[in-house]
Amino acid sequence: MRIVVGVGGGIAAYKAAELVRALSQRGHDVQVVMTKGAQEFIQPLTFAALTGRKVITGLFSQSSSQDTLSSAVEHIAVAKDNELLVVAPATADLLAKFAVGLADDFLSTLYLAFTGKVVLSPAMNTAMWEHPATQANLETLRKRGCSIVDPDEGWLACGVTGTGRLPDPVRIADHVDMLAHTKTDFTGEVVLVTAGPTQEALDPVRYISNRSSGKMGYALAAAAARRGARVILISGPVNLPVPPHVQIISIKTAQEMRNAVFAHLEETTIILKSAAVADYYVAHIPEQKRKKTATRLSLELDPTPDILAELGQKKGDRLLIGFAAETENLMEEARRKMNIKKCDMLVANLVNTSGLGFESDRNEVEILSRSGQTVHAGPADKNEIAERILDQVAMLRLNLRAVDATA
Ligand code: PMT
Repeated sequence: MRIVVGVGGGIAAYKAAELVRALSQRGHDVQVVMTKGAQEFIQPLTFAALTGRKVITGLFSQSSSQDTLSSAVEHIAVAKDNELLVVAPATADLLAKFAVGLADDFLSTLYLAFTGKVVLSPAMNTAMWEHPATQANLETLRKRGCSIVDPDEGWLACGVTGTGRLPDPVRIADHVDMLAHTKTDFTGEVVLVTAGPTQEALDPVRYISNRSSGKMGYALAAAAARRGARVILISGPVNLPVPPHVQIISIKTAQEMRNAVFAHLEETTIILKSAAVADYYVAHIPEQKRKKTATRLSLELDPTPDILAELGQKKGDRLLIGFAAETENLMEEARRKMNIKKCDMLVANLVNTSGLGFESDRNEVEILSRSGQTVHAGPADKNEIAERILDQVAMLRLNLRAVDATA
């Protein structure tokens, strides 16, 4: 891949040299851009030696040509020539500039002109990281599609211990490789993903639901599409953009989700059941809004169809991957659900840890397979977790094909 590494002005700028080396060693073609601040911490010569290329140090620096016009539009040429921009360290200042669209140096101007993938690896003092302004800027950038490598916890150059350290450059390079979509191992597969919550009506204006945001399911759908699959995403009500090249089917209730799943089962080869389906629905929904009274209200609830269990009966040779959201006894419950619902694999997550599971951008999972093997993934961004889950699914598919071939 043709990659631009943008180096921000923080003490961690020296680690960017390790990142550039790792990316170059993995065969990527790397162009380095340094902010003025970055040049206070590390010399452009270091990067020039690692990449064999001139480092871009300013909007109107002497570019590859002495010609003034080509210097003035160099950011456009660099934006057009490269497929991925990774910024490490992404300082609080750079995040703020990117979020509001300020373009007062080469890197921020390049960011605006760039249409490829963007990876940001923030590093800063803990208080700056935790400041609502920084977090709001990050949320804006995340929503815009930037991929964030969260900073590590540890000792910081300012003398405190906390969150804000630039992660190991190898981890950033791994993240870049993950996005480089070098894998096409889902080509030919039709992947059906269920995501988000269901809503079960209480009356015409109220419903019972849960805290699922759909982020895990949408990350799975996006990753499967990147890796070559045709993807059908059956989603409860969420507030997320539909990933590129994904067919979306919107539903509200568990019954609607069941109907949509079985309407598409025939064409599907892999099913990922990450939705948080309501277990009960209200037996009698009045036509008019329920009136408030001073007495206790009792509701009769009936069980919803268990879509995963029914799929277990009817799946044929399709791969069925269930999920389990637990607040205790994670592994026992996960194994029990995998067996009774006849899943080939089950992804289990605890949903009572703050910052993980429901609603959060991050998750930590155990991926169980029927062979008895368990693979741990995270804590990490849900995009990364989705890739790790798909790695296990791809491996299972390969193993099953190998068994079929020898049978
Ligand atoms: O959406 P996010 O905010 O990103 O959060 C992600 C998540 C926590 C919702 C996700 O990682 C997850 O755990 N999804 C499964 C949630 C769940 O409903 O778990 P469960 O243990 O109650 O159900 C077990 C399995 O049965 C699930 O695959 C579920 O889709 C399925 N099920 C449950 C009930 C039902 N009536 N039909 C079903 O198919």
